[in-house]
Amino acid sequence: MTSAELIKSGQERLIESATQAINSAYAPYSQFKVGAAVLTSTGEIFAGCNVENASYGLSMCAERNAIANAIIGSAQDTITIKAIAVANSHNVSCSPCGACRQVIWEFGQNAQVIFRGNQGWQTSTIKDLLPEGFSL
Ligand code: THU
Repeated sequence: MTSAELIKSGQERLIESATQAINSAYAPYSQFKVGAAVLTSTGEIFAGCNVENASYGLSMCAERNAIANAIIGSAQDTITIKAIAVANSHNVSCSPCGACRQVIWEFGQNAQVIFRGNQGWQTSTIKDLLPEGFSL
């Protein structure tokens, strides 16, 4: 297997995990189910889904839930996000919202972000999606 094929199979595994997580989404208000999967620098994968609330503003995106699951589940004290994939039930273009971009930035300033763009699956860097991320 070439290194390009290895990278591709890694991305496909992450997309598969994000797609699987759609099935767990709780989205009775928007009907827009989202799944996300985080790949950490140690090779662990953690998934998350969106969880909505009758008080709409309390709803949480799939990406941030996946990151929280990675923080809880990882053997590492601090996680580093190598890549994150986002899938949705409508198979429409859907990149992480601004809040999620900032949270991805916190845990991986070199993270690859895999999402559905206008032309299908697309990979960007978090730096491209959030050029001036906030750090303290
Ligand atoms: N949502 C996500 O979980 N991730 C995204 O990247 C975009 C939007 C959720 C929030 C809400 O539950 C639903 O999708 C509709 O906005």
